[in-house]
Amino acid sequence: MPKLADRYPFPAPEGSHWSVPQDFDVEFNWDYDEGRATMMGLYRKGIEMQWNAETRIDWSQELDEDNPEQLPEEMLPISGMAQYEAMSRAEKAKVRRHFQGWQISQFMQGEQGALICAAKIVTQVPDIDSKFYASTQVIDEARHVESYKRLLEKFGVAYPMTPPLQELIDQVLRDSRWDMTYLGMQVVIEGLALAAFQQIRDHAQNPLAAAVNAYVMQDESRHVAFGRLALRDYYPQLTQKERDEREQFLLEACYLMRDRFDAVEVWKTLGLDPAKCAEHMYDSGFMEMFRSSLFTRIVPIVKDIGLWGPIIRKGYEEMGIIGFAETDVQALQEADDTIAKDFDARRAYVQSVADRAAAMEPAQ
Ligand SMILES: [Fe+2]
Ligand SMILES: [Fe+2]
Repeated sequence: MPKLADRYPFPAPEGSHWSVPQDFDVEFNWDYDEGRATMMGLYRKGIEMQWNAETRIDWSQELDEDNPEQLPEEMLPISGMAQYEAMSRAEKAKVRRHFQGWQISQFMQGEQGALICAAKIVTQVPDIDSKFYASTQVIDEARHVESYKRLLEKFGVAYPMTPPLQELIDQVLRDSRWDMTYLGMQVVIEGLALAAFQQIRDHAQNPLAAAVNAYVMQDESRHVAFGRLALRDYYPQLTQKERDEREQFLLEACYLMRDRFDAVEVWKTLGLDPAKCAEHMYDSGFMEMFRSSLFTRIVPIVKDIGLWGPIIRKGYEEMGIIGFAETDVQALQEADDTIAKDFDARRAYVQSVADRAAAMEPAQ
């Protein structure tokens, strides 16, 4: 099988490896204290809920030729744009394959970012219970990279990490303060990812694409809970000035993700005018609807960890997302778990029907 990177329409700017210099202290903890009950509970759950992507997912399933994930047309940012609507069926299929492949590529690339960040947290965070939990997240993230890579191979197209995502990950990795890794990765990137995964889990008619996202989400909601637990205990100990700095960073990260996560690489690759595509995305309300809904999972966490000063409240009001502060995160997390279990049950049922049918076949 060809390397995934051979399918990039243009090479990643750094070549095959990206090196980010580090300047922070690695922390050992000699106390071995018992740890917070909630954190240890999450750690225990992290261990018990491990799964194997190879066996839990039925990889014999294929994607759709015209619309890989079988998503509604309105989830394509340029649907309704005159130039797109005038295309032939084959051309439209190519646009869908590239856009969806770009999105899954960002999931896969972002998951590698999460893998590296979780490992950084293990080495950098002072509390031993957080080190324990983060170590379970490391293996979760490796499994997510693997799952999205396998899904992406079925698209026949893949994209390098999009520059705004890379910019944020670079910033977070270079920062020597341990909580900034959490803030950038566990709160902003994972919060955003959860909402994006949910759009596919809930709207894709393709069973493989839906299942991959459902299973990854089951783990991700634990990761967001981890960030929330660790930061909720830490931020009240900081000064207002230090909290303001975090709020400023958060707001900039949210703007970066909302305004620049616009698939410009796809439009360029397909020979479309990126400026016209962006104009359409704004005018058609796509940004308003889809981009804003990506913040459902971030805003309530930001409020919960105590970064809810005037800077963030004003910023979120301007972005039109402050209403998400009231989202019931607990209920969403419970639903993420139940839905993943439903996918398991469906697969077991299909298998049992196939087994029974095979048993009834007359012996040859
Ligand atoms: Fe992940
Ligand atoms: Fe994660």
